Amino acid sequence: MENRSLKKVTSVWIITILVLFLASITLGIIMRFNQGTQLHLKPNTFYATLTTHGVTMIGIWAAAGLVAINYLLSRYVKTSAGLSIFALVFTVIGVVMLWMSTFAGNFHAAWTFLYPLPLAPYAAWKAWATNLFLWSLVVFGVGWLVWSVGMMAQILRNYSITEIFAWQHLTGKEPEKKTPPFILISSVSLIGIILCLLAAVVLLVFFFMEMYTTGVKNDALLMKNLTYFFGHTLANEALYLGLAAVYELMPEVGGRKKFGTTWYVALGWNCTMVFVLTAFFHHMYMDFVQPGGFQIVGQLASYFASLPAAAVTAFSVATLVYRNRIKWSFTNLLFFIGIIGWLIGGVGAVIDSTISNNIILHNTLWVPAHFHTYNAMGNVLLCLGFFWWAAHDFSGTRDTFRSHWPTLTLLLIGGFGFVLMFYLGGASSVPRRYAVYPEGIANGAPLATAAAWFAVVYLVGMLMVFLTIIRRCTKAFSPAS
Ligand code: HEM
Repeated sequence: MENRSLKKVTSVWIITILVLFLASITLGIIMRFNQGTQLHLKPNTFYATLTTHGVTMIGIWAAAGLVAINYLLSRYVKTSAGLSIFALVFTVIGVVMLWMSTFAGNFHAAWTFLYPLPLAPYAAWKAWATNLFLWSLVVFGVGWLVWSVGMMAQILRNYSITEIFAWQHLTGKEPEKKTPPFILISSVSLIGIILCLLAAVVLLVFFFMEMYTTGVKNDALLMKNLTYFFGHTLANEALYLGLAAVYELMPEVGGRKKFGTTWYVALGWNCTMVFVLTAFFHHMYMDFVQPGGFQIVGQLASYFASLPAAAVTAFSVATLVYRNRIKWSFTNLLFFIGIIGWLIGGVGAVIDSTISNNIILHNTLWVPAHFHTYNAMGNVLLCLGFFWWAAHDFSGTRDTFRSHWPTLTLLLIGGFGFVLMFYLGGASSVPRRYAVYPEGIANGAPLATAAAWFAVVYLVGMLMVFLTIIRRCTKAFSPAS
């Protein structure tokens, strides 16, 4: 069962993530107002802001999923508060280094820092800023890798390899030892996270070899494959960590029977594990030197990575809520809306990953449209559901919806309005990553202004969530807890 130090470190994580989230949303709003021409940032300041926003967001929501499963794992296996503290310290140091590299050093190669852009002679900033940026990734990577390996090792003490993948369920017969869905999904996601962090280690070593040794030149295609294997996989696996929390908590909070692992749940998540690792190839469609076979794998894996997990989860959640008396607390509403946001964003992603569509939608605002949908209105809400539940658990307060409906209304209107402006921009070919839109793109700026105001509404909703959570989380430190 959860111990006091685990509660304390989880509280500090939750508060840290939410503070960084509010700051990063503000950076996002500044960018949208700049694109709407209400603000006038210098181009390199815009791109430094984009870089800070992108890396911080991807980092904190991957960490949020790890925080959730680290806490909930203590129901099944012994977990370590020490490793969580270690990862927290590394994350905070990493954030300070990252923000210094972008805001003080003006590093602005975006969260994808695509080779050879960060290196001389291409870099439009000082060499120390590239160094600091790459070392900040090392610090994040070490913290999360050690933490993830630690969690995986704890799972493997209680469950065999066959059991973590729930293979004993695939026969359809009732197995002797059942694998809880939470263990299956956490294991599948942790393995993906460990693999993509290892790819990041190789990528960073290649960068450092070229930076610190004369005569070394990396292969640009290999570097791009490694970058997207790392970044795309991390962003995707983060979502599945949030789903693990939903499988564990949604029936419990709703007063229903726990979800079980069936043959189709086991099969769905095993397929997801394999296909998520190869879906990143869809980022390489425009790299014509990439072997053709990988492009086909990219398209097929993009379909198969999302479909089994989405179908199985949508079915499980639908059977939970359809014609059943379920207790609708704020936690469960966040979970439910988060699943819907994840599915909508997933459909947008599949549309984009189809090669014939990608020729038109490539590098338009359709791309941030779909990933902001399954992040800001998907994974963020799933993790927030966990944060809300944990904060109420720590403080022993009743988790109701009644007094919080204005908060939810703000999040829904602000969040979906914000992403809708991205979709409308993408559908009319407004390019992504432009600090200011060229004159020929008539509706880029008005859509950006509208999006910025919707995001302000979302920010106010988040602030209200934050204030409630922070009050409850601090109770984890009171002697009575
Ligand atoms: C309301 C909250 C948010 C706002 C206002 C916002 C705003 C923005 C804006 C304006 C951009 C630049 C889009 C472009 O022109 O290409 C952007 C990019 C980005 N955002 Fe957000 N965002 C929000 C939430 C999130 C969340 C929750 C995540 C991830 C968990 C995220 C991850 C990213 C990433 C990775 C990029 C970089 C995209 C690229 O490099 O093309 N954002 N965001």
